[in-house]
Amino acid sequence: MPSRMGSRSVTWSRLAPLTIVGVAAACGLGAATGGGGGAAGTASTAPAPAASWFEPRSGGLTTTFRDGPEVFGLPTRNGGTYESITFADGKELFNGSLAGRGLGPTFNAESCLACHLGHGGGTVPGGDGPDLSGGPLVTPGLLVRLSIPGAGPHGEPLDDPVYGGQIQDRAVPGAAALPEAAVEVRWAEVTGTYGDGTPYRLRRPTVTLAGLALGPLAPGSMTSPRLAPPVIGMGLLEAVPDDVVVAAADPDDANHDGISGRPNWVWDRGREERALGRFGWKAGQPNVDQQTEGALLGDLGVTSQLYPAADGSTELSITQAYPLIFYTKALAVPAARNTTDPVARRGAEQFAGAGCASCHTTTFTTGPAVISSMAEQVIHPYTDLLLHDMGPDLADGRPEYEASGTEWRTPPLWGLGRRKEVSGVLVLLHDGRARSIEEAILWHGGEGEAARQRFVAMPRQDRDALLAFLGSL
Ligand code: HEC
Ligand code: HEC
Repeated sequence: MPSRMGSRSVTWSRLAPLTIVGVAAACGLGAATGGGGGAAGTASTAPAPAASWFEPRSGGLTTTFRDGPEVFGLPTRNGGTYESITFADGKELFNGSLAGRGLGPTFNAESCLACHLGHGGGTVPGGDGPDLSGGPLVTPGLLVRLSIPGAGPHGEPLDDPVYGGQIQDRAVPGAAALPEAAVEVRWAEVTGTYGDGTPYRLRRPTVTLAGLALGPLAPGSMTSPRLAPPVIGMGLLEAVPDDVVVAAADPDDANHDGISGRPNWVWDRGREERALGRFGWKAGQPNVDQQTEGALLGDLGVTSQLYPAADGSTELSITQAYPLIFYTKALAVPAARNTTDPVARRGAEQFAGAGCASCHTTTFTTGPAVISSMAEQVIHPYTDLLLHDMGPDLADGRPEYEASGTEWRTPPLWGLGRRKEVSGVLVLLHDGRARSIEEAILWHGGEGEAARQRFVAMPRQDRDALLAFLGSL
């Protein structure tokens, strides 16, 4: 029986650590020996860093080595002429307003870029600042998914009969439809203390829908606030073979490491079959095509082939949507920086030691890919693409296909250190509650609780090293 540990040993090539904490050795690092139960900071002998440690190419040969605020908007490095023309056409659609190209009547934003700031993440009221007053959405980076109890024929969430699967908080001026509601976020402070006595402050959101235009939500309605995540490296994540992702799952926690990642199985509308979910905070979409066309309809009110109007008509034909889909797949991952910096390297040991890599899988090799330059690449996305129970604090209580109300897909961490520069703001986690990488770690619960506790127990120097490592990605 393939255990999680066995399947992980092949993926652990980038960051073979010098120091391994006992607990983590038992859960994430297949190659390491040593049993469980060690407290944070307990070292055991371990292999020296592999040569791949120094490998900054997070996206394999497609990695871009450029820097600056535009770095998430660049094409994969090794594409051809056809690719660059299609990319340029797609860029226009991603960055520009879809007003006049089918936008609305109700929608959340006029363009993809309005939510995916600089092709990175979105923002929330209050951004990443200390002000906790919150308020209505100013920038459209957060949306509210909606469903009623039960599931459709393919296991999909059931739409609210009036409002559909998502609240659209804007409407085209002069159109018959009104904005469905105003989305408002209120923050409450939560405080805690690190093991060394340093206090920390977190904020917890309450998201409300004010002025519902079409009357109250259906009884039993479930809502889920979702922050726009970065859109780099999508084609690479799509090209990680299904069987590799599924082999790393450990739904019954057979290896007793407290971590039981499992795949989401969702509906592929194009192929009309069940497929492995990969995209979205609960891995509810199987591929970039469906994710993109779903965003066109849900976020912008634009119909296309996979999500047509009730009469079957579309506002963007497949020929028109194709460059946008291509563009979204082809956005490159920037290189990791400071990979030889001793502090960042020590931070990688902390990452390993705290068990972060049990979910934030460091390395995959892609299989065949629609964009041929993305095939057979050794990539370092820091996600296992699996669902994990993250505990009650992060729960939204709204299932999506097989993902429960407490489960979330491990988000990729590549590009993490660039996100503030790219988007002008850094808010993390599915609802944007974390204002820093540190805060994001401190919210980990459920299967991530042990890793959080190891982080809290670290002396400041080790915490800083871990953050330096994450900032190098
Ligand atoms: C209203 C804000 C908003 C707009 C506009 C928007 N997105 Fe998104 N995007 C999101 C959110 C929120 C998610 C996460 C969805 C979920 O969890 O189901 C997401 C997820 C994605 C993902 C998957 C990322 C991942 O890591 O899984 C891709 C790709 C994407 N969007 C592309 C697009 C494209 C292309 C457009 C334009 C057609 C677009 N988005 C427009 C908010 C937005
Ligand atoms: C049990 C699996 C698991 C473990 C172990 C784990 N994470 Fe996570 N991590 C997740 C999931 C799932 C999320 C998303 C949770 C959410 O949004 O509600 C996440 C979110 C994050 C984020 C925010 C990313 C973003 O784009 O919003 C960071 C940063 C992060 N983790 C770092 C770490 C570090 C560092 C460790 C080790 C101390 C760690 N994680 C351990 C599963 C895990």
